[in-house]
Amino acid sequence: MTIDKKFINQFINITSKAALAASYIIGKKDKIVADKAAVDSMRSELNKINFQGEIVIGEGELDEAPMLYIGEKVGTNEGPKLDIAVDPLEGTNFVANNLPGALSVIAIAEKNNLFKAPETYMEKISTKVNEKNVIDLDYTVKQNISNLSDHLNKNPENLTACIMDRPRHKEIIDELNKLKVNLKLITDGDVSGALLVTEEKYNVDIFLGTGGGPEGVLAAAALDAFNCNFQGRFLFKTDEDKARAKKMGINDLTKKYELNEIVTGDSIFCATGITSGDLVAGIEIQDNNFVSETLVTHKSSGLKKVIKLKQNL
Ligand code: FBP
Repeated sequence: MTIDKKFINQFINITSKAALAASYIIGKKDKIVADKAAVDSMRSELNKINFQGEIVIGEGELDEAPMLYIGEKVGTNEGPKLDIAVDPLEGTNFVANNLPGALSVIAIAEKNNLFKAPETYMEKISTKVNEKNVIDLDYTVKQNISNLSDHLNKNPENLTACIMDRPRHKEIIDELNKLKVNLKLITDGDVSGALLVTEEKYNVDIFLGTGGGPEGVLAAAALDAFNCNFQGRFLFKTDEDKARAKKMGINDLTKKYELNEIVTGDSIFCATGITSGDLVAGIEIQDNNFVSETLVTHKSSGLKKVIKLKQNL
């Protein structure tokens, strides 16, 4: 089974409109209003599409999110059953502060093919190297860098690692420094960070560190289409987190997930730029039109490219 190509344009339209909605709030120091603008737009556009969608990754659970909550049914209730993961505004700080890299993101898979990730942190690693036992979450940073260096035939000083600039990553960053690996430190937006391994032009060999679990699942959908590698392990801190995970059907709380356990079968991924960043340019308004750039992947057809669109406002 594959997801019909006709959905590609419809989903590009969804993230483009959500990006446009958030773009009006750029630089207004208001993460909440910007997020709400993107969420409202995405939800109303999703409900126009002929499919039976279920939000598996969204704005939270029913009690904390009135819209796009996990389990919410979207679409016209006609057509194929699809799992939907959304991050209407990935990089709320970027929009609030008018900084590069804010995206509106969606991933779609056939029903029961996308992992229902809880709202918790996830340890992640991604590389373009797909062979087993080269890069692994269970290896030390030193081991991973040494394996990657051998595999790519590049000295560690010619490798670049992308990681979020967070105090929790001090040990990893210190170790990478010691190994003379170049760093690309990002302040937010680890969906984009994880995807920088997909193409040579980004000059990133490995992405690692801990970020949002939902963001990990979204990135995994695109990485799958690029035939890259991804592993993730949820981190549950509180008893409440653990109980919630169990409720969602996660019994082994320390399990390391391979990419194909996070997303299986066919998928579509769309990420539209709100502010310009590494992957795509941001929304540009020209008279009565707006121009958007969306990174799109469709696993079964092999589509993976940036699509630029000019639409009426
Ligand atoms: P928001 O857009 O929800 O603010 O998330 C931005 C983000 O940087 C994600 O990309 C990342 O996974 C997460 O926050 C990291 O969380 P924290 O800021 O707690 O380190």
